[in-house]
Amino acid sequence: MTAKIIDGTKIAAEIRSELKDKADELKKKGITPGLVMVRVGEDPASVSYVRGKTKASEELGIYSETIVFPEDAKEEEVLAKVEELNKDPKFHGILVQLPLPKHIDSDKVLNAIDPRKDVDGFHPVNVGKLLIGEPFFMPCTPHGVQQLLIRSGYDPAGKHVVICGRSNIVGKPLMAILVQKKKGANATVTVCHTGTKDLAATTRQADILIAAMGSPKAITADMVREGAVVIDVGVNQVGTTAEGKRILVGDCDFDAIKEKAEAITPVPGGVGPMTVTMLMVNTVRAAEMQSA
Ligand code: GUN
Repeated sequence: MTAKIIDGTKIAAEIRSELKDKADELKKKGITPGLVMVRVGEDPASVSYVRGKTKASEELGIYSETIVFPEDAKEEEVLAKVEELNKDPKFHGILVQLPLPKHIDSDKVLNAIDPRKDVDGFHPVNVGKLLIGEPFFMPCTPHGVQQLLIRSGYDPAGKHVVICGRSNIVGKPLMAILVQKKKGANATVTVCHTGTKDLAATTRQADILIAAMGSPKAITADMVREGAVVIDVGVNQVGTTAEGKRILVGDCDFDAIKEKAEAITPVPGGVGPMTVTMLMVNTVRAAEMQSA
């Protein structure tokens, strides 16, 4: 059996076209959704992600700005900028691109963002709301994974979902989303991490396996049950082409797993476009709520 390829680019385009109507509605009322991104330093992955978010904003008519600090910017400078942006009515959404340089306390910066403008869904207030089942903004990558599953016909309800990785950006919020007694969720969720004793024995129990550990091709075919649905959240740079383009692979051994799985997401073209799209969804929603 060769797996169905879950096309994140196509599903993302579907959502963006639905979103364009909402953005146009706001425009008719004289409201332009605004997103500001803060980047510190020149990490190539962060530069590329922020560029992608800018492009998606342009396509939807969302006003966006990027504020770039040098790598050695002081924590106080970044915090002062966040405070200023909290008060700026042009911006309905604020995103601080992670990771931040080591001398800056990311938690302190994320906690400084007004939860009503926290389109990343990383503020503790929004994390708490998600966990109790009353989400305000859902973090973009896990929300994108849920949408990919639902829209490709693999509703997680009643399924055993095994998530590999317990990050605050993906693993933990995805667990919180999929475990809720709600439509498009209601799954039995297991979260594996570096302390998991027999990872392969656990992943083989998955109906839906989600790889989000940030380790190139760490999930091999022997770790996947025949007929499982596999979502690869990993984006790992394993080299650079002669033209200077980043060579990316996921956390899954795609070529081997596609001979065994029912469906799988590619890297790139799977989860990545969904993350950007869900950020756009949150930004439009922020604009709707702040203008209501
Ligand atoms: N770095 C990697 N993923 C993300 C994300 O979803 N949001 C932000 N702000 N930074 C990231």
